[in-house]
Amino acid sequence: MTALRPLIAGNWKMNGLGSSLDEARAVAAAVDAHPPGARVAICPPATLVHRLAEALGGMGVEVGGQDCRAELAGAFTGDIAAEMLADAGATLVILGHSERRAGYGESDALVAAKAGAAHRAGLEPIVCVGETLAEREAGRTLAVVTGQVRGSLPEVLAGKPFAVAYEPVWAIGTGLTPTLEQIEEVHVAIRGVLAEMFGPHGQRVPILYGGSVKPSNAADILRLRDVGGALVGGASLKAIDFLGIIGAA
Ligand code: PGA
Repeated sequence: MTALRPLIAGNWKMNGLGSSLDEARAVAAAVDAHPPGARVAICPPATLVHRLAEALGGMGVEVGGQDCRAELAGAFTGDIAAEMLADAGATLVILGHSERRAGYGESDALVAAKAGAAHRAGLEPIVCVGETLAEREAGRTLAVVTGQVRGSLPEVLAGKPFAVAYEPVWAIGTGLTPTLEQIEEVHVAIRGVLAEMFGPHGQRVPILYGGSVKPSNAADILRLRDVGGALVGGASLKAIDFLGIIGAA
């Protein structure tokens, strides 16, 4: 079964003003000049989704959101519907990032509802899972991660475009990464669950690794079994670093 094209997605988190669009333009110009083997996406803060989509229109870099609400519309002050992201020009959305699971108490069921909303709006969800350090030290990594995969992906995604991102919570923004063996072990376990849940389609869904990916470790990580791309935080903010990772895919 041929794997889908890898995906390298940048997660800008709560970073970026209008002046940051130049970094994204530089990424898109380089991607267009030398098309990489991977799809490339940038997920800026919501305030920049429309501007970035306009700035990169017709270029080889997609734009994504970082979260959405499950409902279509309504009295939810401060929230953004999946349809609004799509209307602003996004084609993807990150969901269930550990910073949202931990900071906003997002459960697997809520993440699954959001993933359903993303599908409803025509967005490709990137659903994040990952264990805390305490869970890893307790030997619970595979149980936690496979449980999150089972609980966070609604059936409606069967046959539809989506990705899973494995991001160990303790590796995010810390400069620490699991060993290559540890990364592969979790990705293979996720693949098993995806195949069980979605059949042949589950064999092909990209499983991204995220957590302190940088140009110096990207090539080693990206060639591991069942690693189908990367979700990149800090190193996606500077075009030169992000391009180093894209070039390794
Ligand atoms: P990092 O973040 O690359 O800065 O570790 C990754 C993420 O949170 O998606």
